[in-house]
Amino acid sequence: MLKTRKPQAPGSRIFLPAAVIFFWRFIGILISSPYNSPLCVLTLCAMRSKLVVGNWKMHGSLAVNAELLQAVRDGAGGLRTEVVVCVPYPYLAQAWTLLEGGAVSWGAQDVSEHDQGAWTGEVSGAMLAEFGCRYVIVGHSERRSFFGDTDGVVAAKFLAARRAGLIPILCVGETLAEREAGMTGEVVSRQLDVVVQASGIEAFAAAVVAYEPVWAIGTGRTATPDQAQEVHALIRGRLCAENAVIGNGLRVLYGGSVKPANAAEIFARPDIDGGLIGGASLAAADFLAICAAT
Ligand code: 13P
Repeated sequence: MLKTRKPQAPGSRIFLPAAVIFFWRFIGILISSPYNSPLCVLTLCAMRSKLVVGNWKMHGSLAVNAELLQAVRDGAGGLRTEVVVCVPYPYLAQAWTLLEGGAVSWGAQDVSEHDQGAWTGEVSGAMLAEFGCRYVIVGHSERRSFFGDTDGVVAAKFLAARRAGLIPILCVGETLAEREAGMTGEVVSRQLDVVVQASGIEAFAAAVVAYEPVWAIGTGRTATPDQAQEVHALIRGRLCAENAVIGNGLRVLYGGSVKPANAAEIFARPDIDGGLIGGASLAAADFLAICAAT
């Protein structure tokens, strides 16, 4: 018996193709607008989840870490913010053991620009990945100023992190002398541009940028929310000029003397997506209070 077709309502034949075309036009506008259409900006801003990263620097011991990691793990469970701790290399295995299966990720504070070979003292991205790292800090001002990490070396480390499947947290920021000379924009743009040129803007789809004014690190002197927002907007604008989708989707963290008392005001600014926390990440209560302030 021949199947008969159900009679179609007038117009239904063109409804489906029209809906498909409309959908693709809508997606096209969202992803291709070079000028940050309001819709595109709103959608991508809403998609940016908050992130707080603790940079322990060269602090800790097995005994102290055990307590700190357990407390952070317990406290982070109920938070909406993504929480990460970047521990010294020898403690990666401990972080892995104590954090696995919980809400807190872990990472390292530096990575070699090389993948393997005769590089005494270096640690490769693949080694970090093998220890469960998800993130790695590159270009921290302490590496730049005390260990000779030039913009070129930082770009090479950023690329090495990406090759290993890690998410680089690229630190940029000016010294006090540079700020006072009115060079903040120039310095931050240069630090960013070198990496964009080396990696291509697409690599920033799986990266984080941290603005850390050198004069605010460990000094107790924080950038005002306005000062921080101004530089964050510059960073985002620069990346949006290359690719609006990637620029608007990128998380830009603020770092430099963030404390429970000032975190909420800083994180409330539109281009500040969380923080990179030094000293205050060593006390679980302070770190968790900062995470909760996003
Ligand atoms: P403080 O929070 O101690 O100022 O350090 C910031 C920092 O350098 C994080 O990477």
